[in-house]
Amino acid sequence: MQPSHHNSKAGKVYLIGAGPGAADLITLRGARLLAQADVVLHDALVTEEMLELCPQAIKIAVGKRCGKLSTAQHFINKQLIDNAQKHAIVVRLKGGDPMLFGRADEELSALELAGIEVEVVPGITTALAAAAATRQPLTKRGVARSVALFTSSTAPGESNETRVPDSDTLVQYMGGKEAILTAQRLLAAGRPADWPVVVVENCSRADQRILRLQLSDLEQGLADCEGPVLVMMGESLRTRDSFTEQQSELPAVTRAYLTA
Ligand SMILES: C[S@@+](CC[C@H](N)C(=O)[O-])C[C@H]1O[C@@H](n2cnc3c(N)ncnc32)[C@H](O)[C@@H]1O
Repeated sequence: MQPSHHNSKAGKVYLIGAGPGAADLITLRGARLLAQADVVLHDALVTEEMLELCPQAIKIAVGKRCGKLSTAQHFINKQLIDNAQKHAIVVRLKGGDPMLFGRADEELSALELAGIEVEVVPGITTALAAAAATRQPLTKRGVARSVALFTSSTAPGESNETRVPDSDTLVQYMGGKEAILTAQRLLAAGRPADWPVVVVENCSRADQRILRLQLSDLEQGLADCEGPVLVMMGESLRTRDSFTEQQSELPAVTRAYLTA
């Protein structure tokens, strides 16, 4: 199908990255647009405190969290187009960055085909927020020169025999339920049993938890994680000799986890 001509009567849609959750980790551009938005269609990963940045807007929840019913993607696309026909500023607010594991391609295609003007505003993706939260760089001179951001989550009908990437540092999105399989695949591929693994749950939020493991521990799974989880692996995640946890600055639940 050919793109339609630009629909000059319609409003504009902004795909905005909300960052990992904390309201002050969105960009200034994103926050400014949120404050001007007529409608905000947001994911489940977008926090309540972030939505306080757009009290004037009509808010529509279109996200999903593990197992709960989600709004079908084609219906989200239709809602974006319908709202742009009626309103000047429509925001599609997504957790992290919209261009990573965010189905932006489908939304951009639908809007472009409908002739709706669209702009993308980047956000801090969880991998970078988690590296900051844990004070563990994903690259390290002489140790780790490449980073792969990957997921084993597949589309319906797609083979789940996805290969784990071969980079020095691996960051797995949507990996909580896949932890056992991921660990088994990496051990079978020759990664050492003591390979450092850092898991961050609810990154940047009040209930953030940080778990430091080895690859052999990951093989036991991450059954007690309920929030969104990011799994980071590699030698760059090995704690520095000088490293001490700043436990007093962490929420109580994180301290309990670290000392367990
Ligand atoms: C559909 S992907 C969206 C990724 C997002 N576009 C980004 O750039 O971070 C959802 C996954 O991102 C990760 N994630 C998002 N927010 C998170 C957070 N605050 N803490 C930990 N992981 C998070 C989890 O792996 C979650 O399953």
